[in-house]
Amino acid sequence: MTRPATPSKATKKSCACCIPLLSSPIGRKWIVALTGIALILFVIGHLLGNLSIFAGPDAMNAYAAFLKSTGELLWVVRIVLLTCVALHIWFTITLWRENLAARPQKYAEKNDLGITVYARLMRISGLTVLAFVLYHLAQFTWEAFNPEYKTWVDVQGRYDVYRMVVTAFSCPFVSAFYVLAVGLLGMHLSHGIASLFQTLGLTTEKLRPVFEKGGLIIAWIIFLGFASIPTAVLLHLVKLPSSLPTCPFCQ
Ligand code: HEM
Repeated sequence: MTRPATPSKATKKSCACCIPLLSSPIGRKWIVALTGIALILFVIGHLLGNLSIFAGPDAMNAYAAFLKSTGELLWVVRIVLLTCVALHIWFTITLWRENLAARPQKYAEKNDLGITVYARLMRISGLTVLAFVLYHLAQFTWEAFNPEYKTWVDVQGRYDVYRMVVTAFSCPFVSAFYVLAVGLLGMHLSHGIASLFQTLGLTTEKLRPVFEKGGLIIAWIIFLGFASIPTAVLLHLVKLPSSLPTCPFCQ
């Protein structure tokens, strides 16, 4: 049975597409682009905060304590972040399904070597980054794998984030997984950044290579920044005071 071309009145009444921005593919693309910008800003902020590990335990634990001290503001940021993730994924899937439905089968197959290959890469890298973030939250925020992390405090009685991160990355498997995941994040951002300028209507023939190169450079900086942390731990450039134990899995 074929689907009706226009939604019924009942569908129109309850559908979220009644909101003007969501009622057209362009509006939905804007949501994906704007939530993408918010997520990129979070990733850059998170990277800058994490790089405090190179300044030593005091700097990193002070940074983590500062974040915790913001109390309700931290929860507002978390809720905004979660909303952005949900909207970004939901509208990406919606647009993808609409594209598939609007495209005749033969046309899709013919173009599989062009744009669709890149689009497929975006979906796979996006889903892998999502899986990574869930693992990452379980590891460092919920401390589900190592409940003892919760009890670690430094000499000033602050939550010892430095010790937790160095201990986790002293396991080569964990570090390798992080480097792989941030590599996929870099790939996702490289295309995503160039494509969001296009969605926002800022791309011209002249500016296209600028945005593409800019996206690539930002993605590399983000990748190298995040990857530098597990790498530095494995190379013992960032380490724990010798009295403390290292990898709980490899010992
Ligand atoms: C070497 C790489 C990374 C390190 C060392 C790291 C470190 C941390 C730590 C220690 C926390 C817990 C903070 C706390 O509860 O006090 C955290 C939370 C978080 N990280 Fe990462 N992170 C890394 C990469 C990433 C990446 C690539 C993403 C996203 C793509 C990400 C997303 C998050 C999110 C969403 C949270 C939860 C924030 C919150 O609860 O407020 N992290 N990270």
